Amino acid sequence: MTTAHPPRPSSTPPASAARAGRAPGAWPGLGHLPHLLRAPLRFLGSLPAHGDLVEIRLGPRPAFVLCHPELARHVMADGRTFDRVGPLYEGSRAALGNGLATCPHGDHRRQRLMMQPAFRTEHLPGYADAMRREIGAALDRWRPGRVVDMVDEMFALTTTVAVRTLFGAGIADRDIAELRDSLDTFLKGVYLRALLPAVDSLPTPGARRYTRGLATWRAHVRRIIAARRAADPDDRDLLGRLLAARDEAGGAMSEAELHDQVAVLILAGAETTSSALAWALHLITTHPDAEEALHAEADTVLGGRAAGQDDLPRLPWTGRVIRETLRLYPPAWVLPRTATREIEVAGRRLDAGSTLVFSPYILHRHPGFHAEPDRFRPEREHADGIGPQTWSRSSFVPFGSGPHKCIGDTFALTEATLALASIASRWRLRPASAAPVRAVPRSVLTPRALPMHLIRR
Ligand code: HEM
Repeated sequence: MTTAHPPRPSSTPPASAARAGRAPGAWPGLGHLPHLLRAPLRFLGSLPAHGDLVEIRLGPRPAFVLCHPELARHVMADGRTFDRVGPLYEGSRAALGNGLATCPHGDHRRQRLMMQPAFRTEHLPGYADAMRREIGAALDRWRPGRVVDMVDEMFALTTTVAVRTLFGAGIADRDIAELRDSLDTFLKGVYLRALLPAVDSLPTPGARRYTRGLATWRAHVRRIIAARRAADPDDRDLLGRLLAARDEAGGAMSEAELHDQVAVLILAGAETTSSALAWALHLITTHPDAEEALHAEADTVLGGRAAGQDDLPRLPWTGRVIRETLRLYPPAWVLPRTATREIEVAGRRLDAGSTLVFSPYILHRHPGFHAEPDRFRPEREHADGIGPQTWSRSSFVPFGSGPHKCIGDTFALTEATLALASIASRWRLRPASAAPVRAVPRSVLTPRALPMHLIRR
């Protein structure tokens, strides 16, 4: 496929060159669901061999997976034609509310305009300060010789950072712990519910736990916002900025909107960043050269202290490790869209209501666009010319593409870089289990468990 064809309004370019295909191995009645539940990454990785747009079956329904970066970029750029609607998003909205990461195209512009100011570059040093404090406090609790599951530990860290940057210093540790637990239950359940929406009609303990987790989560967020309004609504943290936000007509966010945005920011920001960190720790402990370079950089720049915003320019290797981790294990691994009208994509006519799937995982491991795609090589940024300046390149898209591109990308990269450098400046980690590290694709791509020995450097 080439990318030289100009866009045509009635079809997704470059339709004439793109190849549509079909994935083999569908089960009668179930389609490819067994593959997606049992070995989703292997299944996704196999799809580009069948075309640029590949039809799979979710039960009886077809879905169309975008396996070419340019085709994916064109689809993601057109939020009106390829919208966040349909059963998958209805399920997410029922659980999460209609916030920026879940809302359909019609609500998106207003929401994005209201949220954008809270993510301006000038606010980052303040957020980075909260990150540095929380990272330092978490590492102070580590003890040599202990075994810690880094999946849980990084999730605890990034949820605490998300809550502190959103709500300021005033929130109690007990509230943070309860928010974290309910969020964890919810996140574990949401992938299964996206594939099998009927699962909650069965009175199983899992369904009850999920419903309870969701209710606890909602009640907490509501209480925190109410307490904050009563106390100091003008505080200059993220919540203060959302309370002060105005739309083009001068209107403020309603109570429900504010609640949804807060929930979305914690959900969209915490587990994605913690997964990236957990994968980075796994990759570092299994690649001695990369680990040595990481430690050397941390020793020169930090000398044992936690990293802050001012250190970032002097942590280029740490940054590369994080970006190469995001390439190999993009936390947002599948993002569905629904065609809102009949349209031709890659020469294939799709009905209105068709599901399309954008997968950074597929694009990042595509052998046509990345040399030795399965190898961890942080130095590849130099060799291949892929770096922060060329991120718009459509074959490296951990933060998505188009109008919905992640609003928290700089926030996330800052947090992950500060955390990894701070860990490296004080600790060497070693796997505490010989079992292979497996990915559990929940709504976010996460390692199942990552027990590590803590060794003081
Ligand atoms: C490594 C960490 C992160 C990754 C990999 C990631 C990835 C993504 C991706 C792929 C999207 C696009 C979703 C779509 O097209 O439907 C997205 C959107 C979003 N992300 Fe992130 N994200 C990360 C961290 C964060 C953080 C820290 C925050 C907030 C503090 C955040 C908030 C959001 C929001 C609100 C959206 C919706 C944007 C919109 O639709 O306009 N994310 N993220």
